[in-house]
Amino acid sequence: MPIILNTDAFVHLVPGSTFTSYVPASRDGAQLCAWQLIVPAGLRGAAHSPTREEVMLILDGELRITLDGVSAAAHPGEVILVPAGSQLRVDGGPAAWVTATPGLGVRVAMAQDRALVLSTALSLFPDPRYSVRVSLRVDYEAAGGGYAGQRRTDPRIEARVHRALGSARTVVNVGAGTGSYEPSDRWVLAVEPSALMRSQRPPGAAPAINGRAERLPLDDGSVDAAMAMITVHHWEPPSAGLRELRRVARGPVVVLTFDLEALPAWQHEYVGECVAADAPLMPSTGEIGAALGGRIRVEHVPVPRDCIDGFIEAYYARPEALLDPVVRASQSAWRRLAPGVEERMVDRLARDLADGTWDSAHGGMRSLPEYDGALRLVISEP
Ligand SMILES: C[S@@+](CC[C@H](N)C(=O)[O-])C[C@H]1O[C@@H](n2cnc3c(N)ncnc32)[C@H](O)[C@@H]1O
Repeated sequence: MPIILNTDAFVHLVPGSTFTSYVPASRDGAQLCAWQLIVPAGLRGAAHSPTREEVMLILDGELRITLDGVSAAAHPGEVILVPAGSQLRVDGGPAAWVTATPGLGVRVAMAQDRALVLSTALSLFPDPRYSVRVSLRVDYEAAGGGYAGQRRTDPRIEARVHRALGSARTVVNVGAGTGSYEPSDRWVLAVEPSALMRSQRPPGAAPAINGRAERLPLDDGSVDAAMAMITVHHWEPPSAGLRELRRVARGPVVVLTFDLEALPAWQHEYVGECVAADAPLMPSTGEIGAALGGRIRVEHVPVPRDCIDGFIEAYYARPEALLDPVVRASQSAWRRLAPGVEERMVDRLARDLADGTWDSAHGGMRSLPEYDGALRLVISEP
């Protein structure tokens, strides 16, 4: 049956808006194409002119539509027919569903009188300066091999996680993967949807069951504490899983995550597409706290220079490590990039490390014993 899962969808991040392409025109035999458009609240959109008729169904929030000079607010459930060749501007947000025919092009007026044509109904944005194409989800069954070798418990981060768990004797670890950061001196149940990830858990690790955060197979208040380490951005949506953590835990819920606003400059400069790939999925610490409720504490977690857990930021003083495909294979953001983008970024990093360009701009990072960047613990106490 041609059900298109959001794991198959691709996200195009155009300045200001996110297009998730569920039915791109490139699919064989497609007579229609369809995508979800998310416009942040408060954004003033760019005027543009579609070359094909499109139908827009408002899903959420309020969009202000200006069509051939006439403005109106559109609300969830309302439908707008946009004729080919009309002048369209979409302001505000957040979400609409758009259906059109393949071959749609969109002419957008850009700065300096340039016109950008976004073609083939979002299956192809020809100019990578204005768009990155990323897939929405990472399939850990396909991409999780080799994770355990690169993504291991860092004892300094672990100490903070365990302190946040307080006196809890029973703990559920959700999105547990290969078992990093699980305490060995308390009763732990791991919940992890990927069999490939579960198979990499070391001998003697806590039992792991096949389950997803959004629907935990546990009763209300059945454990003392819940933990979720570098996983909430994979949940669909994060808020559903976070509410589940709060439901099943009598005591603290401890979430290890990244505040993308606080990433160091070199990451934006050299692995910017990875940052962009995570951005639509990664909830802010404020959103995590709001979904968990209770008394919220957000702690900065400094990353040690020799950090053992191989997430991208861990290599702030050893960027050469990112040239190793085995290291990158355990970092999910690379898996969501369009073909060729990873190679382009790695080539540039290799060149700039070899000729000293990286070091002249960011070399000061190498001598920092730890880096207080984007890693955060969000702790909710009931
Ligand atoms: C980056 S890994 C983190 C694993 C582990 N917590 C760690 O710190 O190494 C993300 C994990 O989230 C899991 N995951 C993906 N979607 C999930 C969902 N809906 N519910 C629970 N876990 C999920 C993946 O299978 C993967 O094991």
